[in-house]
Amino acid sequence: MKVTLIRKVPVATDICVFELAGAADAPLPPFEAGAHIDVHVDGFVRQYSLCHRATEAGRYHIGVLRDPASRGGSAAMHALESGTHLEISTPKNHFPLDTRAAHTLLLAGGIGITPLIAMAEQLRETGRSFELHYCAREPARAAFRDRLAEPGFAGRTHFYFDSEGEERRIDLQAVLARPSAQTHVYVCGPAGFIEAVLAAASANGWPAQNVHREYFGAAQPPRDADGPFQVTLARSGRIVEVPAGTTIVEALRAGGVEVSVSCEQGVCGTCLTRVLSGEPDHRDVYLTDDERAANDQLLPCCSRARTPMLVLDL
Ligand code: FES
Repeated sequence: MKVTLIRKVPVATDICVFELAGAADAPLPPFEAGAHIDVHVDGFVRQYSLCHRATEAGRYHIGVLRDPASRGGSAAMHALESGTHLEISTPKNHFPLDTRAAHTLLLAGGIGITPLIAMAEQLRETGRSFELHYCAREPARAAFRDRLAEPGFAGRTHFYFDSEGEERRIDLQAVLARPSAQTHVYVCGPAGFIEAVLAAASANGWPAQNVHREYFGAAQPPRDADGPFQVTLARSGRIVEVPAGTTIVEALRAGGVEVSVSCEQGVCGTCLTRVLSGEPDHRDVYLTDDERAANDQLLPCCSRARTPMLVLDL
């Protein structure tokens, strides 16, 4: 969809909210809390969560951190001026909120607040029970603090700042001390934060299906020990060599076979492909543990093979 950047508002150090409107301000399609859009900017495609109330129809708000380690996408976003025309996808939701939960725990690390504040807005609006635990390096880097001081958030929102010492850090064991089938946990943030939450939830006996996560970080990088392997395209019978240091998508592209991709970081799920035989070496951050264990699908933009050959449904 073609959209126009209406305004860019700084909401914390290195974080801006971008407000996007449809062509001629035509209302943009509705979305649900937890959804993200793909944004095409300067040759990059990046995923950004919608961070406003889903009932606030018509425009989209995304929160973007200018990441010094970025490969260019967030820097290009921050360089945009109001009035710029952009191309985006329709909203996709890989991180939906279970609205039947008796209680919801939202755990945000840094810019991971963006999908969770949309969930918190929905839970507040519908009168559901929730808590939001928000960890940031320092107060100036915590976005949406004004919004989170509003009635309905204050008292349910807990901030934790690294800059304020060990005693202000989140105690995950305590936050996740009461596993319950009626409570759902949502975590979003850097990979290390998510792993810590998942480990604490697992150690405390939370049912795996009640713990939901969305990564912002990229998939695992290539390893020195990564070797070559082959891919068979089941529909044509063609065999493609995947050299060390090359992804399946890159090897296929070099051979004239295009696979739909978006993030090329194992985050978005766009390139999800069925595996008909062989064992994948999953490197993505998209599939759940159960989906990985089934070994019947993989993300070829980053994942590799544990067997000399993979047969893919391509
Ligand atoms: S393109 Fe996003 S997971 Fe592969």
